[in-house]
Amino acid sequence: MSDKKRLAAEKAVELVQDGMKVGLGTGSTAYFAIEAIGRLVKDGYHLIAVPTSIASEKQARELNIPLATLEEVGTLDMTIDGADEVDGNLDLVKGMGGALLREKIVAHSTRALVIVVDDSKLVRYLGTKFPLPVEVVQFSHGRTRFYMEELGCKAELRGGSEPFITDNGNYIYHLHFDRGIRDPCELQKKIKDIPGVVETGLFLKMTKKVIVASDQGIRVMERV
Ligand code: A5P
Repeated sequence: MSDKKRLAAEKAVELVQDGMKVGLGTGSTAYFAIEAIGRLVKDGYHLIAVPTSIASEKQARELNIPLATLEEVGTLDMTIDGADEVDGNLDLVKGMGGALLREKIVAHSTRALVIVVDDSKLVRYLGTKFPLPVEVVQFSHGRTRFYMEELGCKAELRGGSEPFITDNGNYIYHLHFDRGIRDPCELQKKIKDIPGVVETGLFLKMTKKVIVASDQGIRVMERV
């Protein structure tokens, strides 16, 4: 599995050109991309990177990748990140690693979001292999949960009695939909309308390219 993740990540890093402003994703696949970007920097590429989590920032610092904030650099040329699920429209579920908010902010400020996955992440309907992670403020989160469940899902607080706390000081709920998510756009709007919700792990119409590694090799899916 990690061989495929490395393969997809390294293929994506072949798209990185000298002088680019690059977003660094989060998770076990993005980890390999950051490693490969570190090698480019070592080879003399002038890159500036914006990390999507404290973990990715730490890895990048160890590799001497020059870092900046989005405010400092503005729109990024490319972000390479993983995903939990990818459907045929290149829409995604992200956030099982708990970094969805920063990932979405960085992706929104990026010209080309390149997603790297192994073939186990491909689905017909989002929300079938993984629940949908949603970042929620701590204040009265039980009420936020109540309103999310009114949308027809079971909402489970990540970490249970010892809740996981995001890099932004919030909680994550995992939303389980029995039959998956049939209308992701509609669901995104409905969840975002609930006070207390900060962001969802639905990344819709954001991805330019998905690089999929399987036992047969690499396949590239592109948005037309
Ligand atoms: C982090 O919050 C996530 O969005 C990850 O990008 C996603 O969970 C994919 O992670 P892996 O590459 O570890 O499967």
